[in-house]
Amino acid sequence: MESHHKVREKFSSGLAVFFATLGSAVGLGNIWKFPYLTGENGGGAFLFVYLICVFFIGLPVMIAEFYVGRKARQNAVGAFDKLAPGSPWKVIGFMGVLASYLIMFFYSCVAGWVYAYIFKALRGDFTAITTEGVQSIFGQAVVSPLPPLVWQWIVLAVVAIILICGVQKGIERITKTLLPVLFLLIIICDIRSLTLSGAREGLDFLFRVDFSKITPPVILTALGLAFFKLSLGMGCMITYASYFTENNNMIANSARVALSDTIVSLLAGIAIFPAVFSFGMQPGAGPGLLFMTIPMVFSQLPFGNILLTAFFILSSIAATTAMLSLVEVPVVYWSEQRGLSRTKSVILNTIIIAAFGVLATLSADKTSLLGNIQIFGKGFFDLFDYISSNILLPVGGLLIVMFVGYVVKQDDYIRELTNHGTLNNKPLIQSLIFVTKYITPILLVLVFLNSVGLIKLN
Ligand code: PFF
Repeated sequence: MESHHKVREKFSSGLAVFFATLGSAVGLGNIWKFPYLTGENGGGAFLFVYLICVFFIGLPVMIAEFYVGRKARQNAVGAFDKLAPGSPWKVIGFMGVLASYLIMFFYSCVAGWVYAYIFKALRGDFTAITTEGVQSIFGQAVVSPLPPLVWQWIVLAVVAIILICGVQKGIERITKTLLPVLFLLIIICDIRSLTLSGAREGLDFLFRVDFSKITPPVILTALGLAFFKLSLGMGCMITYASYFTENNNMIANSARVALSDTIVSLLAGIAIFPAVFSFGMQPGAGPGLLFMTIPMVFSQLPFGNILLTAFFILSSIAATTAMLSLVEVPVVYWSEQRGLSRTKSVILNTIIIAAFGVLATLSADKTSLLGNIQIFGKGFFDLFDYISSNILLPVGGLLIVMFVGYVVKQDDYIRELTNHGTLNNKPLIQSLIFVTKYITPILLVLVFLNSVGLIKLN
């Protein structure tokens, strides 16, 4: 069904395209996943491997998604229907819609904790806090049933309001305004962190080059990270590209986004690790680092509460701009394929995510209300994460490069990427097509088999 024959919105400029796509890539992944994995897995050597993964997997998939989206100017399902009518390729779109729901169920829960922590930091809850103190605050924020649910709903309401405002007045305006703020706040945290006595050790943890740590499983970790970081494999970039300006240089945009996203991750690492080492703490992964170590460390600094508030504001900006792109996938699916108005579609999707998100939020910890329910040996929270990140995204990415590499006519791909011959980048596109057809698919199959445990590389 066509969408009421309304004129489809577009981003207003190349800069808006850049900020929106970067806003999707920059998320909670930058704040804890990337810096920690880099530090643990060989520092500069891991970074080198990560950049190669971005180059050989990330960019080919991103550019393929850009092509599909801008060419079809449709939602993730409709796009495949338009480019290959009546074929089963639209299953990629359905998988994307499903992945976007699954990721949102737990991502909005963690984003809720981040929002809550802004106010805890502002109130000075962490002043002169002890290890037991931060543990108990985190426990309350996560385990007590009602507050984390209410925060999750607040997060979903914020995302819904922005999305209802539309592509230009919502997504574009928010990403263009907030990403520079995020950047500024990260720089402030960096300056404070770099002037601490343990700065050296923290930077060593992040940047020391240790090639002996680069083993096959570490390479696959870097591949998986590149994929999730750049929001690939689930139609998110297809959906955003359907709003791209006609003359956007999509290859250049993908490279700029990947590079800027990596810089934001490194700046987050520079803010975090010197502070952690200055206080003789261990850098741990994930929730522990973000919600316990950071509050404890930052609150011991002069003006610590202000710094901590800034840190959680920037984390919430990152989470929110990423969620806009996640929720946009089903929103446009429901409006274009199922004929709902945009507002109704946003409301319907928000309700779906809030309803199932309860399962993730109430199973985030073993002691949570639903923490002991196990499906395939995993609680809901971990199950949603596992199915989306380890199965749907790599399989989706694989199918997208296969579609563009083998189904789409090469001439058309070249025409779109050169903007009908106006860009002088043909040799680059020839190499890109080679990588898209032969290298990216093989690497993605390896990532997938490894992540579901069908092969073990050691
Ligand atoms: N790229 C986001 C992050 O690094 O946190 C997460 C994400 C957003 C994944 C959007 C997938 C997606 F479609």
